[in-house]
Amino acid sequence: MDVTDDASVPVKVLALAGSLRAKAYSSALLRAALDLAPKGLAITHYAPIGDLPFFNQDLEDAGVPPPVTAFKAALAGAGALLLVSPEYNSGPSAVLKNAIDWASRGKSPLKGMPVALMTSSPGVLGGARCQQQLRLSLSGIGAVAMPAPDVVVAQAASRFDAGLRLADEATRTLVGDHLARFERFARAIRAGAG
Ligand SMILES: Cc1cc2nc3c(=O)[nH]c(=O)nc-3n(C[C@H](O)[C@H](O)[C@H](O)COP(=O)(O)O)c2cc1C
Repeated sequence: MDVTDDASVPVKVLALAGSLRAKAYSSALLRAALDLAPKGLAITHYAPIGDLPFFNQDLEDAGVPPPVTAFKAALAGAGALLLVSPEYNSGPSAVLKNAIDWASRGKSPLKGMPVALMTSSPGVLGGARCQQQLRLSLSGIGAVAMPAPDVVVAQAASRFDAGLRLADEATRTLVGDHLARFERFARAIRAGAG
């Protein structure tokens, strides 16, 4: 995937939300990211990661399942990745980790991929431990996670309104600034790789 440093050509970003529930804070945070992204990022939410089967090498050996092929093609067509996850037992959700595991296999589109991370939680740590685990996995795959400062949305119930719009102005600024930095980061990583 080419990413030009011509700012008039947006960086294509595939975005994954790590929760399948309808009223998820992580999906709401991803919607806010779509809203707050700079013009230089074209972010697409790849929703069907719940359709990916649990990783099983027997399935892979028998022929990569079509939902996996579609997912990897979408990733390969993107210049960057945005992961928005809840925190389950101090790590990423199984659905998100499963997607990462499938994407890491074979000719992985994750190699050299710039990645931005955001987490949310009703708790006070905002998913910070999940981000550490994601960073470890991503570095093992050869993806390039953007360094801190991180977007961790703690006490999520107080940041989103009843319609799950990100209402907290400080958090909206944090997300917007993060994405503006991610555009520069993604272009620099891709330019270095080229
Ligand atoms: C199995 C499970 C484990 C959880 N572990 C954590 C945790 O380690 N840290 C945390 O902040 N919240 C934890 N939670 C609470 C989730 O952050 C909360 O349910 C959150 O709303 C889920 O994300 P979502 O709103 O994006 O669906 C856990 C929830 C579940 C169901």
